[in-house]
Amino acid sequence: MSTTATQLKPQPTVPGTYQPKGMLIGGKWVGAASGQRFAVENPAKRTAVAEVPRSAAADVEAAVAAAEKAFATWKAVVPRERGKLLLKIAEAIEARVEELARTIALETGNALRTQARGEAKMTADIFRYFGGLGSELKGETVPLGEHVLSYTRREPIGIVGAIIPWNAPVMLGALKIAPALCAGNVMVMKAAEDAPLGVLMMADICQEFLPAGVLNVLTGFGQECGGPLANHPKIRKLSFTGSTEVGKVIMRAAAERIVPVSLELGGKSPSIVYPDVDEEWTVDGIIAAMRFTRQSQSCTAGSRLFLHEDIFDSFLNKLEKKTTGLKIGDPLEEATDIGTIINSKQYTKVCKYVQDGLDRSDAKLVFGGLPPKTGPLSEGYFTLPTVFADRSNDWRLAREEIFGPVLVAIRWSDEAEVIRMANDSHYGLAAYVWTHDIGRGLRAAHAIESGWVQVNQGGGQTPGMSYGGYKQSGIGREFSLEGMLDSFTQRKSVTVNLAV
Ligand code: NAI
Ligand code: MG
Repeated sequence: MSTTATQLKPQPTVPGTYQPKGMLIGGKWVGAASGQRFAVENPAKRTAVAEVPRSAAADVEAAVAAAEKAFATWKAVVPRERGKLLLKIAEAIEARVEELARTIALETGNALRTQARGEAKMTADIFRYFGGLGSELKGETVPLGEHVLSYTRREPIGIVGAIIPWNAPVMLGALKIAPALCAGNVMVMKAAEDAPLGVLMMADICQEFLPAGVLNVLTGFGQECGGPLANHPKIRKLSFTGSTEVGKVIMRAAAERIVPVSLELGGKSPSIVYPDVDEEWTVDGIIAAMRFTRQSQSCTAGSRLFLHEDIFDSFLNKLEKKTTGLKIGDPLEEATDIGTIINSKQYTKVCKYVQDGLDRSDAKLVFGGLPPKTGPLSEGYFTLPTVFADRSNDWRLAREEIFGPVLVAIRWSDEAEVIRMANDSHYGLAAYVWTHDIGRGLRAAHAIESGWVQVNQGGGQTPGMSYGGYKQSGIGREFSLEGMLDSFTQRKSVTVNLAV
């Protein structure tokens, strides 16, 4: 937890990582008005690696004022010119991709080779994708008759308040910054208290190209800084990624002022494996879908594994062999496959779920279990990929988002029944279907209540695909042109009488 991180022993600067200069308000690097700071922890060693400002309401006020000042000029910039700046940012990120990747690995505990480097590259790709979309902010003409000219304009909404989490902090930040700014909005973003460094580095690169105040980035805690941001009367749009619990708080704040809101929230996504794919590639796919190499701290983790009864034991054997072969260790080491959980609170939470599984008589531990209490892995928040086999979809481990590497395997025999179980969740973010029979796979894909279903693959999102949740997994879509248009513009109709 960052609150205890202030008591951590500081460690010398880690080579090749970004050192923060403060928060970005109105093009300047500043401290919190209160002068307070807090430490950022390296979860692999439980040491402090940097300090950042601990901002609160007064800082939100300053950031909103800076954004307001920038808006009139920024919205008047020709969209393709705004896009060109985003393309320059993409290039500048690419030039520093390794430093960004190391910074992400250092503060999140996500392994450099398997995760952080990919996230840094994806961040550049996101700026590049949206940088090309300026001229797609077009409106329509409406045929109301020969004597009327009626057309629509896509106008920016204004100051966007963005709040992001720590699990893929820079990529999730870019997914809000790039489309919002391309569409002519300005932004005040709050980085997650557990992972502000990479986001500050991205902001540092952005501010080389953007006019002052177009992007402002605050560092601070949820209620202290995120609260005043969500409730600020001049924020015209709220965009949040994080837990469903806090998503509801944001939506309530939005309701008070009738502010549009995009929410990208949690998940408990099903993976349905048919009996014809008891094969190595499926096992690789399940490992990818479960995001084991991100300690499963992913909203799209395929964390409910529905295995057909004919292949149940044989498939789990294969899964055990491959998963236990993954190397857990220092996230900054090139050889490491799996890094650490983000902080002590999440680590304790994950361990508690594992203990609950061990205590349940109906559940069988297939592999994994509680993390070692001694040895090198006990120095950080390292956990073990863990699989429990159970007959039921109803227990806590099969229903709640664990946000850790705990997978529940459930036996099925009847297709209608497995679809019913897959949909028996208040979440509906992602899903995975595995079979050689593509007709059957697509029938399942269409029947599953999720915003994103993958058939025979378990990868991550790609710019261009509209991504977002059904049910309590969220509202709105990101990652795409439609995401930009729907989430970050408002339509105005202009109707002109041509007969006068
Ligand atoms: P969280 O939802 O509390 O934090 C996400 C962001 O919201 C952070 O920037 C935080 O400072 C901010 N925040 C927290 N409370 C706020 C408030 N009252 N007003 C305004 N902003 C606020 O997530 P947390 O505590 O880090 O993780 C808890 C659980 O949330 C995880 O175990 C996981 O289940 C879920 N989660 C889901 C994510 C996703 O990508 N869908 C990402 C992170 C967490
Ligand atoms: Mg929280």
